[in-house]
Amino acid sequence: RVTDGSDGSVLSWNDPTHSQLTNPSQFGTLVLIDEVKLTTAIKGTPVIDGVADALWADATEIETDVWVEGTGGATAKVRTMWDANHLYVYAVVSDTLLSKASANPWEEDSIEVFVDQNNAKTTSYEADDGQYRVNFDNEQSFGGAASADTLTSATRVIAGTPATLLIDGAYIVEAAITLTEVMPQPGVFIGFDFQVNDDENGDGTRDSVAIWNDPTGQSWQNTSRIGVLQFVEFGRVYLPLVMRAYAP
Ligand code: BGC
Ligand code: CA
Ligand code: CA
Repeated sequence: RVTDGSDGSVLSWNDPTHSQLTNPSQFGTLVLIDEVKLTTAIKGTPVIDGVADALWADATEIETDVWVEGTGGATAKVRTMWDANHLYVYAVVSDTLLSKASANPWEEDSIEVFVDQNNAKTTSYEADDGQYRVNFDNEQSFGGAASADTLTSATRVIAGTPATLLIDGAYIVEAAITLTEVMPQPGVFIGFDFQVNDDENGDGTRDSVAIWNDPTGQSWQNTSRIGVLQFVEFGRVYLPLVMRAYAP
């Protein structure tokens, strides 16, 4: 509540009667949510072929450990990189039975990348927001500003398992997303999330959804709860520019 000393007028955020001192019944509600996760993308330009370039070894790894649907099933370990106009992802998805039996692409064994280029965290998609989906067979589908023009991807199915990959039953997705509304440079943030869809028994119905940050299941139409990614040179988090501007 703000009082203007010059004329005594009062404005409140929620209570239109401004009777907060004696009556809490018209307070607004403050909802506590989990902290937003932050990852860093290192600078580099990988070849998009589903085989890990040596560069990927230095990239920060995140995991999809938030369950949007179900409590177990396919999950992914994901690394990110950037260059002048791309965001790159390399994901190892553990999924022992691969299915694309559903007519709905989001119910096929697939991954989704959500990008909010201006990191505005809006409750509906803006023109800079995109949903990029790739199934294990490298079939792409899109939402928002995403399109085949701005996504290059490759997949590789690992059945039965080279020990080097640590995972028994996996597919790899490597992808390049063209950034059109943000100029990547060290210190800049974008909204980012990574989802794994799993049809666990191959019956054409999705059984689980695991994601890195947003627990709501709404990332495909609402960017307000997705995570945050910062472009860095090598892996170190940069202080926000606004904090530097205020430093003496
Ligand atoms: C969601 C689905 C939604 C679909 C729309 C997916 O990310 O998990 O529930 O219907 O996007 O494309
Ligand atoms: Ca946006
Ligand atoms: Ca599956």
